[in-house]
Amino acid sequence: MSILGIDVGGSGIKGAPVDLASGSLVTERHKMLTPQPATPMAVSAAVAEVQRRFGPAARVGVAVPAVVKHGVAYTAANIDPEWVGCDIQRLFSVALGAPVTVLNDADAAGLAEMRYGAGREVQGTVVMLTLGTGIGSAVFLDGRLVPNTEFGHMEIRGDEAEHRASAQARKNDHLSWTKWAARVSQVLVALEQLVWPDLFIIGGGVSRKSDKFLPLLKCQTRVVPAALGNDAGIVGAALAAAES
Ligand code: BGC
Repeated sequence: MSILGIDVGGSGIKGAPVDLASGSLVTERHKMLTPQPATPMAVSAAVAEVQRRFGPAARVGVAVPAVVKHGVAYTAANIDPEWVGCDIQRLFSVALGAPVTVLNDADAAGLAEMRYGAGREVQGTVVMLTLGTGIGSAVFLDGRLVPNTEFGHMEIRGDEAEHRASAQARKNDHLSWTKWAARVSQVLVALEQLVWPDLFIIGGGVSRKSDKFLPLLKCQTRVVPAALGNDAGIVGAALAAAES
């Protein structure tokens, strides 16, 4: 039986069985809209539907946009407030009838990039940022994850970093690539002053267009685009499930 990775986002839920030898999807991923309101119950039913597409799995990893400790969600920045305090790992395990590992979505994407992508074999401190609806973060020291960092909620110039510099903020505020890159640079510089990373990895859907903004970023640290694109969350969730 395979290991299934599922990535729950504010607008879509996508999943696929993952080949952990290569870090690639075994079959094309299945994507569905996130139910609204995205309560834990509604999302668990949707996650179970994704699983049914692929048949039984030995283990399932689910990446969610929340801080997750011991299976319990502690935040709900871009999802339903009912998530806070909910043991989503238990809820999903019951809904799926399989052992489930739940982790933060940016942590999942970071795990995948460190194992198979832009952070492969990089030592020292690596900070991965996912620029999407919000800003997710994942920190690695010598390849080991420090889970649940929430740098997207850092205050920059009086507002949360993700309100100013997420991919969504670029669209909402009709920013040119140059203006948006300046805001992303402010986030990177603020992080440099706090954690002095050796490498930044920029992920999220917008990393596909990295040629448009990466050359415009201004900070001391080396910045590289994520290599796994939109599949990183799925792959990282499966990896976490396999290794838990
Ligand atoms: C959440 C993080 C999440 C990020 C990306 C933020 O608003 O607080 O937990 O990783 O969005 O989805």
